[in-house]
Formats: sequence, C-alpha cells, structure tokens
Amino acid sequence: MSSDFQYEEEDFTSNKVDTNTLFRIIASVRPHWRWVAGFLFCITVVSVSEGFFTFLSKHIVDEAIIPRNSTALVQTLEVYAALAAMFAIMVFGFIYLAGGLGVKVRYDLRKKVFDHLQTLSFSYFDKTPVGWLMSRVTSDTERMADLVTWGMLDVTWAIMNIITALVFMATISWQLMLIVLVMVPVLLWVAMWFKNKILVEYRASRKLNSRITATYNENITGVRVVKAMRREEANRAEFDTLAEEMYKRSFRAAWLSALFLPAVQILSAIAIGAIIWNGGLQVNLGTMTIGGLMAFIAYVTFMMWPVQDLARVYSDMQQAVASAERFFSLMDTHSDLVNKPGAIDPGTMRGDIEFENVNFYYQPEKPVLKDFNLKVSEGETIALVGPTGGGKSTTVNLICRFYEPKTGTIKINGKDYTDYTLESIHSRIGVVLQTPHLFSGTIRENLRYGRLDATDAEIEEAAKLGGAHDFIIELEKGYEEQVGEGGVLLSTGQKQLISLARAVLAKPDIFVMDEATSSVDTLTEALIQRGMETLMKFSTSFIIAHRLSTIRRADRILVIENGGISEAGSHSELMHLKGHYYNLYMQQFREELTAQYDPFGNGEPHPTGGTGKVPAQVVAAGD
Ligand SMILES: Nc1ncnc2c1ncn2[C@@H]1O[C@H](COP(=O)(O)OP(=O)(O)O)[C@@H](O)[C@H]1O
Ligand SMILES: [Mg+2]
Repeated sequence: MSSDFQYEEEDFTSNKVDTNTLFRIIASVRPHWRWVAGFLFCITVVSVSEGFFTFLSKHIVDEAIIPRNSTALVQTLEVYAALAAMFAIMVFGFIYLAGGLGVKVRYDLRKKVFDHLQTLSFSYFDKTPVGWLMSRVTSDTERMADLVTWGMLDVTWAIMNIITALVFMATISWQLMLIVLVMVPVLLWVAMWFKNKILVEYRASRKLNSRITATYNENITGVRVVKAMRREEANRAEFDTLAEEMYKRSFRAAWLSALFLPAVQILSAIAIGAIIWNGGLQVNLGTMTIGGLMAFIAYVTFMMWPVQDLARVYSDMQQAVASAERFFSLMDTHSDLVNKPGAIDPGTMRGDIEFENVNFYYQPEKPVLKDFNLKVSEGETIALVGPTGGGKSTTVNLICRFYEPKTGTIKINGKDYTDYTLESIHSRIGVVLQTPHLFSGTIRENLRYGRLDATDAEIEEAAKLGGAHDFIIELEKGYEEQVGEGGVLLSTGQKQLISLARAVLAKPDIFVMDEATSSVDTLTEALIQRGMETLMKFSTSFIIAHRLSTIRRADRILVIENGGISEAGSHSELMHLKGHYYNLYMQQFREELTAQYDPFGNGEPHPTGGTGKVPAQVVAAGD
C-alpha cells in the first residue's frame, strides 16, 4: 500500500500549518492585491465602527439618559445614523470584494493547473489516478481560494475586533482590561484544543467509514466466494472491529463537540463575573460610570466570537494548507517530455520513419521494446498484429512521441525526432484510438478540431470521406447536434467515425489507428474502412487491427511479439511462411463468421457471400 500513500485524501495527521506553503498560497493572490487591500480596508472599517457602536451606547447612558439630556440624545443618534450608513456600505464592500476575489483566485488556480496538466507526459498520467487529479483541480483549488478570501477575511476581522475592543476597553478601565488580557489566551487555547481533538476524531472516523464501505463492497460483490470459502465468520469479525472503532470515535467527536460550547461559556462567565465584581466596586466608588461598565461587558462579548472564530479558521487553514501541498506537488511536477534546446519545426513530418535499436520500458524492470529496428517508407501502410501485450500500442505511442525511446533513436525524414518540437510532431499526426474521445459541443465543433480554419464545406467533405456524413444527417440537428460530455450521446462507432473524419480533415502526414474497429458493428467497420483508405492515400499509416479485412489492405504486416518484430511481409508472404501470422489468420478467420471468404488476399469474394466456414481445400491450397 505504500505506493499509493501519496494519493490518500485526508492522510495528514499533523496539526501544524506549514508557513512556507501558507505564504505560497497567499502569494497566489498577488496579481489581485487591489482587491485584497480593498476588502481588508472594508473589514477594518466594519470592525472599528462596531467598536464605536458600543462606545456610543456608553455615551447615551452616561451623557444623555442618566443626566436626562435630550439634545445629547439626538446628537448621539445622528452620529449613530451616520455610522450605521457607513457600516452598511463597508459590509457590502467586503462581501462583494471577497466574493469577487474568490472567483478570480479560483479561476487562476484552475487555469494554472489545467494548463500544467496539458504539459505533463503520458507517463505521469499512467501512474496518477484520474480521481486524484480531479480533486486537485476541484476541491483543492476551492479550499485554497476560500482560505485567501473568507479565511483571510475572518482572521483580519477577528484580529481587528480584538484590537478595537482592547483599545476601547483601555479607555474605559485598564484594570478591567488586564482581566481580559489574561482571559483571551486561555480561551484561545481551550478553543484550539477542542477543535483539534474534534478534527482528529472526525478524520479517524471518516477513514474508518471508507474502510467499512470497502469491506461492504467486497463482501457484497464477492458474496459467492465469501460463502464458498467459508469466510463469513472471519469477515464478520473484521467488520465488527471496524464498526466498533468507528462507533467509539464518532461518539467521542460528538461528546467533544457538545462539551465545547459550555466550556467556552463557563470561561466567559468566570471572566464576566470577575469584571462585574471589580467593575461594580469601581462604579460604587465613583471611579467608573454605569455606561462604562455596560460597554465594557459588551466589549467582552464582542471579543468572544472572534477568539472562537480564530480556532475555527485555524482548522480550516490546516485543511487548506494540506490541499495546497498536494496542489503544489502537482504544479512542481514537470514533464519528462520536453523540447530539446534548439528543437525545430520543419513544417512537415513527411519522409521515412526509422526505429534504430530502440529500447523502451514503462517500468525499468519490465522491458517492453527490445532493440527494435524498423524502416518505413513515406506513404507506406503498416499493419501491426500480434498477441495482447506484445507491444503494438507501445510502438505507435513512440511514433506519436507520447513517450520517447529510453535508448536508441526514432528518425523521421532522416533526423532524430527529438530534434523536432513536440508540437510540430503532434500537430501532423492523426490518431484514432480504441476509445475515441470527443469534447462536449456540437459535431461540427468536434470535427473542426482537426483543422481550426476549415470551412463548413471542407468539414462536410471530410465527414463524407471519413464515412460519418450519412449518420450525421440522420440526426435531428445534423452537424449541430450536441455530442454530450466526452461524446456520451453517441455510440462508440459514431464517435469513431467522427474521430476519423477529424483526422481526414487534418490531412496528417502520419496516421495512426489503434484498434479503432474492435468494438463496432460490421456496418460501421465498413464505413471506418472507407475513411481509413482515404487517409492511407496521403499519410504514412500505422494500423493496429484485429479484423483481417483491415489488415490485408496494408503494404506490409508486422507481427509484434515479446517486444520485437517476429514476422514481416505482405499478407501472402506471411501466409506462406506459416508462422504466427498464419495461425492468427486461420483462427480469426474461423471466428469472423461474417467476414468475406478470401484467405489468400487475391481479392475474390466468397461466391455465396461468406458463411465464414473455412473449407479444408482452401487451407490446403495455401501450401
Ligand atoms: N502505461 C503503461 N504502464 C505500464 N505498463 C504498460 C503500459 N502500457 C502498456 N504496458 C505494458 O507494456 C506491454 C506492451 O503493451 P502494449 O504495447 O499495450 O501491447 P499491445 O498493444 O500489443 O497489446 C504490456 O506488458 C503492458 O502490460
Ligand atoms: Mg494495444
């Protein structure tokens, strides 16, 4: 399990906040410092004017009500109204500015991580779960944006409230303020202690919960095996242990949460009791006014919430920092596929393609291509066949430069392809894969990805050549039909045809098709076949396919086995060799009930339309 440790969601037990990461998050709002300054200003004004409100109440009691002075009462109310108006404007200001900043920061972070993901190589995606990446893009950016907006706002508000309250308190009575100064750190400490404890229990029970879910899952989906292997007792015991532990943890969290508020209240009550006792004596002695004592008590409550709030913000901050650590770890990962200094864009990828002593592996201990040599002439069509896991997809992935050889070179037009820029290669290779991918939008938009400046007429022409036009015009909205996210509203075959038409539109110099026909019906396959032939005319093509009818159209067939080429030649050459290809062919031929009966590639269709049965004399005829 150690290998996927880094992908655990909530696997941070430390309650520390790493200040470097914190500063790095805060640095991400630097481009919007005006917004930050704006909302910090507003929140400061809000906090100070809240302090003034309380001070005004002291003034009203001491200067207007007790001396029964109506003029003073009206004057104070005028000040009160002005203050209230400013307060309202500033509240609007900070909510608007913080909200706006949040939107900007979230957008920035998402854009950054999205752009960064585009630069990472396939090998990064091989070892990183998609779900993990999705959380980085969604929830982590969210938490970071919340921290620099609402979190920063809460901290500023709390600190300003505490300072404001202390300043006003000092003007009323410094002895009473000393009581408060002793109380604040105690309250803060208690609040933090509770929040941390609750968080620890909460995280532990969340983790247990996911383990319980996994256990459920295993036992339900594997119920037959569980019963057959007589695992019921052992599984029940395991489940009981987990459930009991979770029960205990959840109860402890509930107990601590329930205890938290009373504890804070008792502490505040003790402090307020001490203030009333001491302040009451001062009022009796005449060294303090009644309004002063009332205002003082109000300031204590005014401080209480911010202090508790700091504890909450601190625990949010821990989570945001943990999010940020994962986010930055992703941003700090750099692609192992980069342009060499001085890499050029030759403007075309036409020319011969050559593998020279290429070695490649995904994991060092498991070599995939071993000393691989191959020379393909410009315009040639190569079919790759062979057992699953033999290295066919790897070969074409290397041609597309989704990966690069570990040793050895791949040359295009006589030059090591790492001397070209990645973009120059990727933009001139057309790829159709087994699981086609479309982007949400209309069919027309998806086709246009092939060549962004294509006219509508060119798009439709390409769709015709690619075999997609007929099904597209059958759709209710034709080319304007929405394909849904990832193309979910279309069948695999239809997506395949669109990918193909997209490639036709692009007129790539190199065309690669990896098992594009393996999950489509025969009718669609025939259409794909047609599109493929169009592409094969102007591109150097590499086709990986199961269907024999597809393979036989190639100029050359390569059998890829154990990371090397075990047989190479035309269909009839390989049939006469009676090796792997021959066996593969005969086996497939028997399976392809609807395939045309033409095992030796002489172009003669089956006289009866093909029942797929292989008459013995035909096999014999190959000898
Ligand atoms: N992304 C990957 N990470 C690790 N190993 C891989 C990856 N892709 C393929 N392999 C391994 O490389 C070998 C060749 O695979 P591949 O080229 O996909 O074969 P084919 O396309 O002929 O079925 C297999 O052993 C496979 O398990
Ligand atoms: Mg494959």
